Amino acid sequence: MKRILDIISEKMQQAFVDAGYDASYGRVTVSNRPDLCEYQCNGALAAAKVYKCAPIQIANAVAEKLDANDFSMIDAVMPGFINLKLSDSFLQHYLEAMRTAADFGVEKTGCGKTVVVDYGGANVAKPLHIGHLRPAIIGEALKRLYKFFGYNTIGDIHLGDWGLQMGLIIAELQERQPELCYFDPNYTGEYPAEPPFTLSDLEELYPAASAKKSDPVFAEKAHIATYENQMGRRGYRAIWQHIMNLSLPDLHRLYDLLDVHYEQWLGESDAQPYIPPMVEDLKARGFAVQSDGAWIIPVAEEGDKKEMPPCILIKSDGSAIYATTDLATMVQRMQDWQPDKMLYVTDKRQNLHFEQIFRAAKKSGIVHADTELEHVGHGTMNGADGKPFKTRDGGVLRLEQLIADMTDFVRSKVVENKIVSDSEVDATTAKIALAALKYGDLSNQPTKDYNFDLERFAAFEGNTGPYILYTIVRIKSILARYGSWESLPIQPAANPFAKDLMLAITKLAPCLEAALKTSSPNLICAYIYELAGAVNKFYHETRILGEEDPALQKGYIALIALAKNVLETCIDLLGFSAPEKM
Ligand code: ARG
Repeated sequence: MKRILDIISEKMQQAFVDAGYDASYGRVTVSNRPDLCEYQCNGALAAAKVYKCAPIQIANAVAEKLDANDFSMIDAVMPGFINLKLSDSFLQHYLEAMRTAADFGVEKTGCGKTVVVDYGGANVAKPLHIGHLRPAIIGEALKRLYKFFGYNTIGDIHLGDWGLQMGLIIAELQERQPELCYFDPNYTGEYPAEPPFTLSDLEELYPAASAKKSDPVFAEKAHIATYENQMGRRGYRAIWQHIMNLSLPDLHRLYDLLDVHYEQWLGESDAQPYIPPMVEDLKARGFAVQSDGAWIIPVAEEGDKKEMPPCILIKSDGSAIYATTDLATMVQRMQDWQPDKMLYVTDKRQNLHFEQIFRAAKKSGIVHADTELEHVGHGTMNGADGKPFKTRDGGVLRLEQLIADMTDFVRSKVVENKIVSDSEVDATTAKIALAALKYGDLSNQPTKDYNFDLERFAAFEGNTGPYILYTIVRIKSILARYGSWESLPIQPAANPFAKDLMLAITKLAPCLEAALKTSSPNLICAYIYELAGAVNKFYHETRILGEEDPALQKGYIALIALAKNVLETCIDLLGFSAPEKM
């Protein structure tokens, strides 16, 4: 379906032509003075310079040519603006077309294209902490948005399961239990099926090992273990497998809580088979060069404003690093999925890393010249005081704890307000808490830092997730009391509040397109906040269930039903859903 602004612009362009002027002056914009008009065209001002006459003269002539059936107001005003209000019938037909089209008539611009969304990036053996919240929920929202536009989408978690953290754990375990068979190089038997540690042991092992990184002897051991594990030393791989077996179910459980779902659970380790042939190829073709015993890919370009260090491919000790696994992962993705685009969502402190690997991948042909590579670098979530989030004892807050805190807070409200019966409390609470958490995050531009404010995010009023849910639930309850509403057609606006609501609904397609183009789920939040406001205004100013004229009432019901469907579609894109009652 065409965007409403394009339809109006085309009509305006035709009017310019009919009045004897060039079509290019007929561009229409949404009014920045909603008190005066809904749309406006300022083309007469520019045309006047070319046609050497007064702008108002052109504006008047063009206004004459517009079809009065399309507009309830066509005003040529000094010095030469054309102010417009849409006619009720035009708007009615546009909304009815939205209502009956698949996905409200939004153009499926991604059909036939594949995009890999690399997000979440959990590291095995380390519990998810609050730093993992943003990439998970921003990535999930962007992936759903791509899917909505018709792209074939592949969400890949790209687990951190291959780097130094593995070597650190192995080295620490060896110090504590050197007698284990995993460390005996002469051991040839099967390794035990049961791990020599539990998940909570692991959660203690890793930070303990990490704290010893500054000890050169221990660090050396950890580096060697990292390298040997990568090279396939049996005992180390067996430990690695134990770590994976313990970590993965836990990660699945946590991402499920967040309603974040991956098509692929690949990790850095899955890139390993691609590394040696890739490195050989890059050396052979001269893209990788030797420097101080390491192999690097120079990526500086003429015109660089800042220093651009080379991309390190293989360290002097022979081990692969973060950039290596990322490049090898691109090789795998190109081979297996031939994506048109790879989109990465991580902390913006990784900007340089992505710039380096993108350049290396492009110049060496690991991806095609037209394969789009995008990094969405997100800002930090700070505490309510604007300082980095810390637990009371100064530690890093676990993601699970953050979710639990939000859930407990919301539950107390649900219970206190007697919103639902006892058996429904948990399910309703989970939905509201998730909306509070996700909307609180996604309503901020991804690149910006923001302050996590549990009470503000969970409020039922204001620009919050629960407020949006509340609006949806309110409509649902009216619809349930009304009865069968699914096939009622849209009617002409019966009052100014209905018209404002209708105008708000028409902005769906441009909003989603802009959100996709700029990787900004916050635009969807801003849109549904405006839409929810228009719904609630309409609700307060209009007797809906009390209306005595059945034809009028049908129109009201059809309109709020469409608003509900649009809101529900949008929150689904953001990654949460509404309960039945609230
Ligand atoms: N595991 C990484 C981290 O914790 C994030 C991975 C992001 N994805 C990627 N392809 N590098 O920082």
